[in-house]
Amino acid sequence: MRIAASYLSIKDNLEENIYKLTSCDIDYLHVDVMDGEFVPSKTMEYSDLRNALNDCKPFDVHLMVCDVKKYIDLYKDLKPTFITFHYETNCDIMSLVMYVKEHNINVGLAINPDTKVESIMPYLPFVDLVLVMSVFPGKGGQEFIKTTVDKIKKLKEIKNNYAYSYLIEVDGGINIDTISLVKDVDISVIGSYITNGDYEERLKNIKEKIYGWYFIRNRNIDANSDWKHGKKIY
Ligand code: DX5
Ligand code: ZN
Repeated sequence: MRIAASYLSIKDNLEENIYKLTSCDIDYLHVDVMDGEFVPSKTMEYSDLRNALNDCKPFDVHLMVCDVKKYIDLYKDLKPTFITFHYETNCDIMSLVMYVKEHNINVGLAINPDTKVESIMPYLPFVDLVLVMSVFPGKGGQEFIKTTVDKIKKLKEIKNNYAYSYLIEVDGGINIDTISLVKDVDISVIGSYITNGDYEERLKNIKEKIYGWYFIRNRNIDANSDWKHGKKIY
């Protein structure tokens, strides 16, 4: 399981703390983007954020916005590993999926806790990632919604049955306890659990737990086996 760290709950010294976070042992920096329309909150403008993000780790951009294309056009220049947008926008999903891919960026589709997996069936053959929201989008520090567990299971079954290639990512309320409920995901977004404490120590606690599962599942497995020649596959 890879870790995408969200800095959404960091209130002070953002630039300095993003740097501190990306110096830790994380796989992606999870960049939450909110427009004050799709969700009531608004995140920092791209122009103010760009410098802080420039030399950081690989990014995973999570767009919680209505005008998806406008934000793809901004964030594509940072060369993120993934750009993920919400199924619940009124946009033409399929053309946006293709638009992100045209820029050689992996595309993700996110679903809110009250959206059924069945709703996104037509898009599953084409996306690189499905982001399952385990809280309603808008802010960090909320409680994990347990019905998410069944949705992850369903997405995993569909993926296996149809041999689809999307990764499954979970976002919201993940901490040292709830991470055990989402063992099957490929990427866990973790925000306030890390940023409300000592970053290194919190990550170490989470990683020890993850490596523990790998060890139990197969004593010979290398927990970092998704690395190839020193580089992540994605
Ligand atoms: C919620 C965001 C999440 C959030 C996760 O709208 O998409 O990425 O920052 O934060 P925690 O881990 O605190 O729930
Ligand atoms: Zn997010």
